[in-house]
Amino acid sequence: MNRHHWWRDAVIYQVYVRSFLDSTGDGIGDLAGVRAGLPYLKKLGVDGIWLSPFYPSPQHDHGYDVADYCDVDPVFGDLAEFDRLVDAARRLGVKVLLDIVPNHCSSEHPWFRAALAAAPGSPERARFHFADGRGPDGTEPPNNWHAMFGGPAWTRVTEPDGRPGQWYLHMFTPEQPDWNWREPEVAAEFDRILRFWLDRGVDGFRIDVAAGLFKHPELPDSPDPEADARTRDSVNPLAWNQPEVHDVWRHWRAVCEEYTARDGRERLLVGEVSVPTAREHARYVRPDELHQAFFFDLLGAPWDADAFRKVISEAIDDIAGTGSTVTWVLNNHDQVRTVTRYGEPTPEGSGLGPARARAAALLMLALPGAAYIYQGEELGLPEVVDLPDDVLTDPIFRRTGSRARIRDGCRVPLPWSGQASPFGFTSGAEGAKPWLPQPEWFAEHATDRALADTRSFWHLYRDGLQLRAALPQLGDGSLRWLDTQPGVLAFARGDLVCAVNFGTAPVPAPFPGTPLLASGPCEAGVLPGSTAAWWIDGS
Ligand code: GLC
Repeated sequence: MNRHHWWRDAVIYQVYVRSFLDSTGDGIGDLAGVRAGLPYLKKLGVDGIWLSPFYPSPQHDHGYDVADYCDVDPVFGDLAEFDRLVDAARRLGVKVLLDIVPNHCSSEHPWFRAALAAAPGSPERARFHFADGRGPDGTEPPNNWHAMFGGPAWTRVTEPDGRPGQWYLHMFTPEQPDWNWREPEVAAEFDRILRFWLDRGVDGFRIDVAAGLFKHPELPDSPDPEADARTRDSVNPLAWNQPEVHDVWRHWRAVCEEYTARDGRERLLVGEVSVPTAREHARYVRPDELHQAFFFDLLGAPWDADAFRKVISEAIDDIAGTGSTVTWVLNNHDQVRTVTRYGEPTPEGSGLGPARARAAALLMLALPGAAYIYQGEELGLPEVVDLPDDVLTDPIFRRTGSRARIRDGCRVPLPWSGQASPFGFTSGAEGAKPWLPQPEWFAEHATDRALADTRSFWHLYRDGLQLRAALPQLGDGSLRWLDTQPGVLAFARGDLVCAVNFGTAPVPAPFPGTPLLASGPCEAGVLPGSTAAWWIDGS
């Protein structure tokens, strides 16, 4: 066992800063709000937090369009407030991870503006992917790639002399030009950025689009551009998962190790890695690369025992098999929340979303490896599915005109207290409005109610986290599947057994006695439908 590596089984809480807690009354969460919320998170029992991007940005993609990597956007605070947050977290023993965005920047970034002002073929343009168009007068994009958020992956610029000119590549929105990582200056600039924040005391980084960065050197046409763009996840094999990216992660790992050698504190790199198979995924977490990479297949699995068992087994065989640990995740700021997702697919599913989401949480916390919790998950917040079109801010909506993949519904500001919006989210004067409207029913999920009700999601997460911290069987280590009837999964972690009934009817419990913890009412001998439970010998 490698228990001394804190990150191998850490539980990290994702703070979507603009929706966590607003200390200034402008309706947008901020770093001082995060600091004020730290005791709440400590009480919940997480090991660390990951802060969504708070850097200066025109906010075309809520901060994933970075104009200055080494500062704080005034909407969220300033560097002094950032330092206070890191200090406060350190005092509480909560690690702080930043979200770093190396695949692309903002079209407002000074280097991109310099590229626009410079000539084709200039060193300024070499930091991005500028290319001449095809067809008569270069009016067609250089290749047929689609952007992940709709439309072509290329935008044509007007040259400084006013003539229509070259095109630049952006795998997301036109306001997010992709960096050219084949240009050494880009790599050097990111070194500087990493060190800037490491010197300010952060414990590591969540790396956005970590399978991106390098594109096929020839930028050739894709054989199936429609397929590449069918999901929001990275699938274009010419734009993602190029072999050179691994050299970057080896280098970043070495930078982290350098800091560890100085002060003994292990830093953590966790990648947002969307690749087709668990085996490909495992290549990102080899011992000298990233410490962790989010394993999204669990999040993508339908509520079905066989589907869950397949993805869990593959992850453990392929990822843990390389000596790393699996990083489990059920929710994040890009996905429909579990309570809603698990309630949807079948007619019998309606109403079962909360029970299934609770069961999935207990399952995740019992699996070997690390886990990430997305803010509001511990409150059992459902997705807000009926936000009116005119309040939507997701660029996917703007670029596709469709609500199909939009992400605003999982980003609505958290309810903290009270019966009406803003539910304590904003400390501003009466009438201060959260940046996305909160539905009335958020009252049921407010943290003050959740803390007072021992049957709440919050208590389930807190109890699960406490047991995880106390029981050496949980966290890092191995898992042994137990035989069960169809529709039920059960596995042992040492003498602890976790079982989940994916069906709706009760089944005989796979372990005798009263559970140590269960996601719903659970007597000895029976495991009710849509319920997970943990047992331990003698409990
Ligand atoms: C990642 C982020 C997502 C963002 C995208 C582009 O997938 O999680 O929120 O829109 O990258 O940066």
